[in-house]
Amino acid sequence: MLRLSGVTKRFGGRTVLKAVSMEIAPGEQVAVLGESGIGKSTLLNVIAGLEPVDSGSIAYNGFEIAALSDDAATQLRREHFGFVFQAFHLLPYLTAEQNVGLPLLLRGREPAEIRRCARALLGAVGLGGREAAMPRELSGGELQRVAIARALVGEPRLVLADEPTGNLDPDNARQVLEVLRGQVKQHGAAGILVTHSEAAATTCDRRYRLDADGLRAL
Ligand SMILES: Nc1ncnc2c1ncn2[C@@H]1O[C@H](COP(=O)(O)OP(=O)(O)O)[C@@H](O)[C@H]1O
Ligand SMILES: [Mg+2]
Repeated sequence: MLRLSGVTKRFGGRTVLKAVSMEIAPGEQVAVLGESGIGKSTLLNVIAGLEPVDSGSIAYNGFEIAALSDDAATQLRREHFGFVFQAFHLLPYLTAEQNVGLPLLLRGREPAEIRRCARALLGAVGLGGREAAMPRELSGGELQRVAIARALVGEPRLVLADEPTGNLDPDNARQVLEVLRGQVKQHGAAGILVTHSEAAATTCDRRYRLDADGLRAL
C-alpha cells in the first residue's frame, strides 16, 4: 500500500531523513520509534505530501505522491489518509463532535450521517457524553482522543499517528491504541504509529527505529 525508497530530507544543510525505505501492507500497523527531534514528524509529513523530499520515492498504491498536483494531493489526503497530529490541530470554535465530523463535512456527507459517525467515534475513544464540549473545556488527554476520533471518522486507508499517546495516562493510552489498531484490522487499513514509547510500539505488528543513520527494522 505504501512504499518508501531511499527517501532523503534535509532542512538547511542538515539531513533529517537519510535514505529511508519502508513498506506497509494493508491491514498492517507499524511503529516508528525514535528520540525527540530525530525526524519522526518529518517522516509523516513527507508521507502525507505536506513536505517535499530531496530525493527518493514515496508511492501510495503505486502512485508517486510527489508527482501529484497540490489539488490531487489534498484530495488524496482527504479521501484516504487519517492524521493524528502531535499538536492536535482541533478548531477552537467547534465542539468536540463538530471537530470529529469535519473530515466528513469536507467530503460533502449529509449532516445526519456526520452526526451519527462523529458520535460513534467519540464513544469509541471513551468520550461519549462530551460531544458538546469545546476544546478549551477538555483536558490534554481528552483533546488527544478527539483528535484520534477525527482521524478515524472517515475510515481512512492509511492512518498516520504522531505520538498519539503522548498526553495520555496508561489506561487511556491502551484504549486509544486499541481504537487505532481496530481501525487497521477491521478495515484493512495501514497504520504508522510514531512514538518514543516502547510500550505503545509493542502493540504494532512491526517496529522500526529512526536515528541519524536512517530507519532500520527492529
Ligand atoms: N519545517 C522545518 N524547517 C526546518 N527545520 C525543521 C522543520 N521541521 C522540522 N525541522 C527540524 O528537523 C528535526 C526533526 O524534527 P521532527 O521531525 O519534528 O522530530 P521528531 O518528531 O522526531 O521530534 C528537528 O531538528 C527540527 O527542528
Ligand atoms: Mg514529532
